[in-house]
Amino acid sequence: MIVAKSVAELKTEIAHLRAAGKRIAFVPTMGNLHAGHLHLVEQARRHSDAVVASIYVNPLQFGPQEDFRAYPRTPVQDLTVLEQAGVEVLFFPDDTAIYPRGRMASTRVEVPGVSDILCGATRPGHFRGVATVVHRLFHLVMPDAALFGKKDYQQLLVIRLMCTDFGLPIEIIGVDTVRDADGLAMSSRNGYLTPEERGIAPRLYSTLQALAGQLWSVSGHGFSAHEVQAMEQLENAGFRPDYVSVRRRQDLALPGAGDRQLVILAAAWLGRARLIDNLELDLKRAP
Ligand code: PAJ
Repeated sequence: MIVAKSVAELKTEIAHLRAAGKRIAFVPTMGNLHAGHLHLVEQARRHSDAVVASIYVNPLQFGPQEDFRAYPRTPVQDLTVLEQAGVEVLFFPDDTAIYPRGRMASTRVEVPGVSDILCGATRPGHFRGVATVVHRLFHLVMPDAALFGKKDYQQLLVIRLMCTDFGLPIEIIGVDTVRDADGLAMSSRNGYLTPEERGIAPRLYSTLQALAGQLWSVSGHGFSAHEVQAMEQLENAGFRPDYVSVRRRQDLALPGAGDRQLVILAAAWLGRARLIDNLELDLKRAP
């Protein structure tokens, strides 16, 4: 595996892959890699001849009171697992490679609407930071395909819409969430949980499953009482929920009576970890 730290090194390596006629799949990450990230790399290998990954903890997507400084950084371990997973090129830039004029002065990418709801409402500016860095990474790597986890469902939609709006010729592939055996979605932030909180954490997903069990026969709307009940269940279990919300899958708008392809999304604090999860749900057709 080649580790490219500068834009010049990255461009040289990408040019080599292109000259060899390789189809490139890209997996951007913030490092501290776990099985969820590695699943993206495996899927990327299936969709390409060469996998390019990146590790960059993007300051622009963290709010002033958020965990940018505390975010776990494990580069030595990460390099080993990416090499073993068959990544050809790792882009491991510093701030100046990503924001050459300084991050506050850099051009921003904003996808309005979808960036302002759900996690965007509680984390103002977060999705602008994500769209800005992913846009920059896409322009540097120029991949044929890029892979993102459905765990970050809203992020995946923001990236899809950004590509549509800019006409970027990159296939965006959404990958299923990898979970621990007890159902907890893998996340770098799970490391913030105490052993006691780690015991409670799977309740986030089981609450979504229980909610889905109630909703799948409900026709089209009137979900709010169920959402409130799920929030109360989370509170009783020890979470501080930001939201539990049933949305349309294609645009995360509130579902209308005819919408059947839904996703239930949730964000909740547990101790100092903010956990997110979601569950796709197909409502059954009325008889
Ligand atoms: P990060 O949280 O490191 O996640 C990198 C990618 O791994 C994202 O596409 C995320 O959805 C995916 N991922 C995380 N946990 C997963 C799981 N349990 N199962 C499947 N996929 C999972 O998301 C980011 O970094 C950043 O916002 C980034 C896109 C790199 C921009 O800075």
